[in-house]
Order: sequence, then structure tokens, then C-alpha cells
Amino acid sequence: MTWSTAIRQVHRWTCIAFVAAVAAYMAAMTRGQPPAWLGIFPAGTLILLLATGLYMFALPYLPKRRNAKGPVAAFSEWNSENDRNGYADL
Ligand code: HEM
Repeated sequence: MTWSTAIRQVHRWTCIAFVAAVAAYMAAMTRGQPPAWLGIFPAGTLILLLATGLYMFALPYLPKRRNAKGPVAAFSEWNSENDRNGYADL
């Protein structure tokens, strides 16, 4: 799983938690002023949604990773290319 799919999953499931937290807060409101700590759940999940949502929003505008295999594989490929070219091994 890549970072962007993991972040999309976090956003998707946090959205369920956020709706549940808002529903719980509204249910508590029917019994008067809800306790302040109950507000932590909708606020916390909303902050997580905002962060992951802004990441997903920015994703198409960010430059693409040149080597998705990671830096170690990229270095090993680069190094073996140098081998074939006859340069000194590193
Ligand atoms: C707080 C600010 C939020 C921002 C900046 C944001 C941003 C985004 C973005 C950019 C996407 C991807 C759209 C695409 O595929 O091009 C997305 C998907 C989605 N958002 Fe949000 N979002 C926010 C809050 C919420 C909330 C409050 C909910 C639900 C209660 C929600 C539910 C979802 C769902 C279900 C998806 C689809 C996820 C998927 O395809 O797996 N988001 N959001």
C-alpha cells in the first residue's frame, strides 16, 4: 500500500468516526449543555480529516516521485548502470 492510498483510507474511515462523534454530540445536546470533553471527538477527527484531505487535494499538484521503488533500489540500479559503463564500483 502506498502512502497516498493509506492516507485515503485514513480519510475514509475517519469520516465515519467524525459523523459518529457529531451524532453523539447532538444526542448529548438534547440533555442540555454537553460536557466540554465530548467536543474533543468531533474536533479531533475533523483536524485529522482536514490534514489528510488537504494532502489528497495537493497530491495532483505535487511533482511525481521519480523512482517509486525507493532510494535503496534507485541507488542499486544507478550503481549497476555505472558498472556496465566501466566506472569504478562504489
Ligand atoms: C475538513 C476538510 C476536508 C478536506 C480538505 C477534504 C478533502 C478531500 C479530498 C481532496 C478528497 C479526495 C477527492 C478526490 O478523490 O479527488 C476527499 C475524499 C473524501 N472525503 Fe474529504 N475532506 C474533508 C472533510 C471530509 C469530511 C468531514 C468527510 C465526511 C464526514 C469527508 C469524507 C470524504 C470521503 C468519504 C472521501 C472519499 C474517500 C475515498 O475515495 O476513499 N471528508 N476529501
